Amino acid sequence: MTPDAEIALPGGNVGGAVRVGDTVRRPTGPWTPAVHELLDFLAAAGVERVPRVLGIDDRGREILTFLPGHVLAIGTEQPSAAQTRSAMRWLRAFHTAVAGFPRQSRRWRFVERALEPGEIVCHHDTAIYNLAFDGDELAGVFDWDVAGPGVPLDDVAMYAWNSALLHPEADAAEMVDGLRTIADGYGSIGAGDLLDHVPVRIVAATDRIAAGQRAGDPGMLRLGEIGEPASTLARLARLSARIPELHARMAPGSP
Ligand SMILES: Nc1ncnc2c1ncn2[C@@H]1O[C@H](COP(=O)(O)OP(=O)(O)O)[C@@H](O)[C@H]1O
Ligand SMILES: [Mg+2]
Repeated sequence: MTPDAEIALPGGNVGGAVRVGDTVRRPTGPWTPAVHELLDFLAAAGVERVPRVLGIDDRGREILTFLPGHVLAIGTEQPSAAQTRSAMRWLRAFHTAVAGFPRQSRRWRFVERALEPGEIVCHHDTAIYNLAFDGDELAGVFDWDVAGPGVPLDDVAMYAWNSALLHPEADAAEMVDGLRTIADGYGSIGAGDLLDHVPVRIVAATDRIAAGQRAGDPGMLRLGEIGEPASTLARLARLSARIPELHARMAPGSP
């Protein structure tokens, strides 16, 4: 029998994921045991739209189930409000379930430590390039490699940052609308608190990329080839300059 062909799965700048039949093969690292424990935990907890771990192949790559769905084309396609609400509903359910994950130390990609009070295991890259949709509904959440300790707002802020609504030159009214859709979709968080958390989360990400580059992490070095983390920090500076204006628009009584 001829083995299934390997089909490159583009989209990521870090990985090198390929599709083989109904599976995905991805490179592994010292963090893979913790990520597989997490994915197995989510499977047992009944969290859907998450790849299931099938094992390690003869080339040392992880074998995950392939999740069908449409991945939005970066730069040309934006999630609809309904897609954002579906993604945020899933994120809330994931956070609720993952709160039961064992809290002792694990070797995650960027840290090796236990969860601190108030922390959960976050996905940490819940951005549109790691999500697939079936119509308005979220169908899949990929790329669990950078999962690790965080606070729930970290994942919500990551989604907000990576949607065009937080493009530094976007229209302020649309930015506020978009933040409210995300915050309301997740539930029990305010759009203003979400906005304030975006710089916190993005600086943490750029710090981690820089530290990974200093440590010679090949994935982080590939990000360096496309100008990271400098380009993200430059965009963040432009966004940060607009945060007071956005807060003013969110204030009660503003038009
Ligand atoms: N389990 C999966 N099911 C379906 N598609 C996947 C799966 N894992 C990855 N992909 C696709 O491959 C792309 C790249 O994989 P990803 O896991 O995000 O790795 P990276 O971003 O590190 O390259 C994703 O954007 C998605 O389109
Ligand atoms: Mg990816």
